[in-house]
Amino acid sequence: MRHLITVSDLNYEDINSVFKLADSFYEQTEKRPIKKVPLLTGKTIVLLFSEPSTRTRISFELAAKRLSADTLSITEGTSSLKKGESLEDTALTLNEYGVDLMIIRHRLSGAPDRIAALDLFPVVNAGDGKRAHPTQAILDAYTLYKEAGKIKGLKIAIIGDILHSRVARSNFELLYMLGAELYAVAPATMIPEFLPRHVRRLESIDQAIETCDVLYFLRIQFERFQDRETVDVDAYRKDYSLTRDRIRFAESRKVFVMHPGPVNRGIELDPEVFGLERCLILKQVKYGLYVRMAILSYMLHDWGKEIEISD
Ligand code: CP
Repeated sequence: MRHLITVSDLNYEDINSVFKLADSFYEQTEKRPIKKVPLLTGKTIVLLFSEPSTRTRISFELAAKRLSADTLSITEGTSSLKKGESLEDTALTLNEYGVDLMIIRHRLSGAPDRIAALDLFPVVNAGDGKRAHPTQAILDAYTLYKEAGKIKGLKIAIIGDILHSRVARSNFELLYMLGAELYAVAPATMIPEFLPRHVRRLESIDQAIETCDVLYFLRIQFERFQDRETVDVDAYRKDYSLTRDRIRFAESRKVFVMHPGPVNRGIELDPEVFGLERCLILKQVKYGLYVRMAILSYMLHDWGKEIEISD
């Protein structure tokens, strides 16, 4: 795997290796007072983010720092991108400074491919437009592997604004590859015209709670609707939200609750959900750091060698 742009760039061996590495990083560094390992000393990792982000940007930056790499950060508003420099020229410029890997989040689908096409250094897609967010899907799969003990055979409902969700697209692909049964739950205005053939529709969240092992909620991406006023939040909450009055039902069915964040509290989830024993939302955040350490070290370390983590 030279570049990680979509889930199609991954095979089982890649996923197994990333999971094993994430296990090692989690077990060996989580509880230690000094959390840094020297694995990527001397490497330079650039983070180019042209869209807001908390989890992805911070966890990638911290992952790189924990692995002892140097990090550089570029945003659209504070770099020469703002003056009209192209993505390609930005990448060529950074290459002259000896960048070893780029992590890019961009508002335009396909932006990471344009840099990957130059093949200057490995490129990791940290979310492009509505298209793909492969590292979110990997950390979601890893969270299920750790907390549910398996992925194969799990019935997973993705609920909410699927139309605008790169997370849904990447998860439909990766979780299917790992043997899960996928369901989509959303109003007609939030479903893409063509769902993957392996994804079945359910009518409401109540049906999902009754049928599924995992409820994976998505944020309504108000900023991507052409007319924000067309979203009827009250009607949405009635059929698609995990509201306080549904929590006991969800608890009795022992369903896992996930969300990639950020959460619109009081819209797709009521705040009480965070108290559920099987709410995995903050675990997704925590494991995300170790998964991203694993991805960076897997992509940058010499191929074919066992990766040894030592201090
Ligand atoms: N899940 C996710 O991509 O969150 P951020 O936008 O905060 O990075």
